[in-house]
Amino acid sequence: MKYIGIMSGTSLDGIDAVICEFSADNQVQLIAKCSLPFEPQLQTDLQKLLREFTLHLRELGELEVRLAINYAAAVAKLLAVAKLDASEITAIGCHGQTVYHDPYNQYPFSLQLVDGNKLAQLTGIDVVCDFRRMDMAYGGQGAPLTPVFHKYFLQGTQARIILNLGGIANITVLDPSSEQVIGFDTGPANCLIDLWMQDSYQLKYDENGALARNGQIIPELLARMLQDPYFSLVSPKSTGKEIYHLAWVQQHLQALNLAQAAAGDVLRSLLELTAITVSDAIKTVINPAQVEAIYACGGGAYNQFLLERIAANSQIKVRTTQELGIDVDQMEAIAFAWFAKRRVEKLPANYETVTGASQKCILGALYAGK
Ligand SMILES: Nc1ncnc2c1ncn2[C@@H]1O[C@H](COP(=O)(O)OP(=O)(O)O)[C@@H](O)[C@H]1O
Ligand SMILES: [Mg+2]
Repeated sequence: MKYIGIMSGTSLDGIDAVICEFSADNQVQLIAKCSLPFEPQLQTDLQKLLREFTLHLRELGELEVRLAINYAAAVAKLLAVAKLDASEITAIGCHGQTVYHDPYNQYPFSLQLVDGNKLAQLTGIDVVCDFRRMDMAYGGQGAPLTPVFHKYFLQGTQARIILNLGGIANITVLDPSSEQVIGFDTGPANCLIDLWMQDSYQLKYDENGALARNGQIIPELLARMLQDPYFSLVSPKSTGKEIYHLAWVQQHLQALNLAQAAAGDVLRSLLELTAITVSDAIKTVINPAQVEAIYACGGGAYNQFLLERIAANSQIKVRTTQELGIDVDQMEAIAFAWFAKRRVEKLPANYETVTGASQKCILGALYAGK
């Protein structure tokens, strides 16, 4: 049974898609993968939305259809690469595009845009999307979801940590001596770095952390950012770009009269913020001496300097999930292919210990494609 997984995260760097099979002994067979940028106008519109967080209702409806068309293009490319027909795919697990995640207010919700109907119609394949809100309906954070996948497929004989460095960072602690899984968002990974790069350098990101490496930490800025209340919350917890945006950085700079600070020094401080908050979060849940290694995935796994700083702060060896047989760019897409399988088989896909939901539940809404 072959499944397609589609992921596009808040970094808006495009769509990652995979075709996989999952064996009964919890092995992943990756059959095909592709990454596809969004259509330029769609990317521009999503970038604007994830800076301003306001939208006309017509734009909202249209965005869902436009995203479905872009995701369908990724499916078409994948099927061509794999030389497979749509009829050979059991279902597509499509995460959708997160545009708002708010688990803390009176009416908690998480909004992932995609018109599942349109994606099913365009591909002729059953589609599962809206994975987060059933967990939230049961009082959970709706995020992170991938720790369940990590537990099934990536557990070793010694304790290890899977660290996803997307826009936001999340960790999964895999301890073979415990049935329990711990996993939560630690805070920003690349989102602030990327926004700062776009604003100060007109570049998408800091390639390999090269610019940050040349900067100097601004101690008072770093200390002030570390006071952000999210970092001291105990898990379950999750966060998003609506909290960690450019204004968040600018507020701290202004409060310290640092509006004229060198861009490279701010960048260096932002990278250290990610490295420290990831490392401190790990130390709150496990003794680093017991951990074999941190396995990084997501685009931040390409940032060599960030990985060095995480290793230095955590005192744990840092590798990438490539060493566990999963490409750093494809981890989340593979997880959502598996989540589609869980939905089709009507099996639960959340852990109460991770999201805080009152019970395990079947995640995702199913749209018939054939
Ligand atoms: N070579 C690189 N050097 C530094 N950072 C990188 C590199 N490649 C990707 N990234 C970072 O990874 C981000 C994309 O990561 P990804 O895991 O796709 O995030 P998301 O899930 O939010 O889309 C980019 O926006 C960038 O910040
Ligand atoms: Mg991405």
